[in-house]
Amino acid sequence: MSEHVTVRDFDGGVRLIGLNRPDKKNALTGAMYDAMREALASADASGDVGAVLFAGLPGAFSAGNDIADFAASASGAFSEMPALTFIRQLARTRTPMVAAVDGIAVGIGTTLTLHCDLVYASPAARFRMPFVELALVPEAASSYLLPRRVGRLKATEMLLLSEAFDADAALALGLANAVIPSDMLVEHAMAQAARLAALPRGAVQATRALIRGDQAEVEAALEAEARAFDERLRSDEAQQRFRAFLSRAKPAASA
Ligand code: COA
Repeated sequence: MSEHVTVRDFDGGVRLIGLNRPDKKNALTGAMYDAMREALASADASGDVGAVLFAGLPGAFSAGNDIADFAASASGAFSEMPALTFIRQLARTRTPMVAAVDGIAVGIGTTLTLHCDLVYASPAARFRMPFVELALVPEAASSYLLPRRVGRLKATEMLLLSEAFDADAALALGLANAVIPSDMLVEHAMAQAARLAALPRGAVQATRALIRGDQAEVEAALEAEARAFDERLRSDEAQQRFRAFLSRAKPAASA
């Protein structure tokens, strides 16, 4: 349970997972990851949920992992953080997932969408994966999924150079299904989720598995990333960047 995540089931079998932490632009805390993980796991277990829709707030899908939590993890391990438990669940969820992205989608705000079956973005959507800028490595199997979706060179711009891209670029690259005006975005995504939920569930899950390819490879990739992430989190260069963001001071140049 988290006050910052709203889970609501609609007639027709759509479960809405709404991120709602406006003062921090939907930066994700441990409690928020736990609430999302539980909502996905129970969707799979329930016979009533036929599709899940992720939505954020106007202007903020998610600012990514809460950097204060990253900073506090110097003495801990990524493998023990709710973020990784959520990512594992995300990758193995059988219920189809839809994302409605308005505004910023940073870090896991973008990588989460790589696991979604349908992605809708508003013209205000701005995707960015600044893992390397933060002296981290990509997560959620994005280093595996993204090159396969957009090609290695484009993935390199996004993952190594942390280049942002907008909704039109996401559409052109096959990372979004359509660009939908902000005021119609959630309604449209909800209608598409309802279409998925109305289909025969067994056929949807089997087709999804065929479209998505080798599940074991995705899971192996996210575990390999997690091991590297763990090391990076505790590195001086990462901790320095977390502190810089939290104090909004400029990080000193790397040696
Ligand atoms: N972790 C913790 N706090 C965050 C956050 C994050 N990932 N992203 C935003 N916030 C906080 C800000 O510190 C600020 O808090 P404050 O009002 O108490 O100072 C509040 O959310 C609003 O953010 P702000 O930076 O003022 O909004 P903006 O519209 O100017 O910029 C972002 C939004 C998302 C571009 C910018 O906040 C940002 O770059 N955040 C970090 C994103 C990131 O690197 N995430 C991790 C990816 S792995």
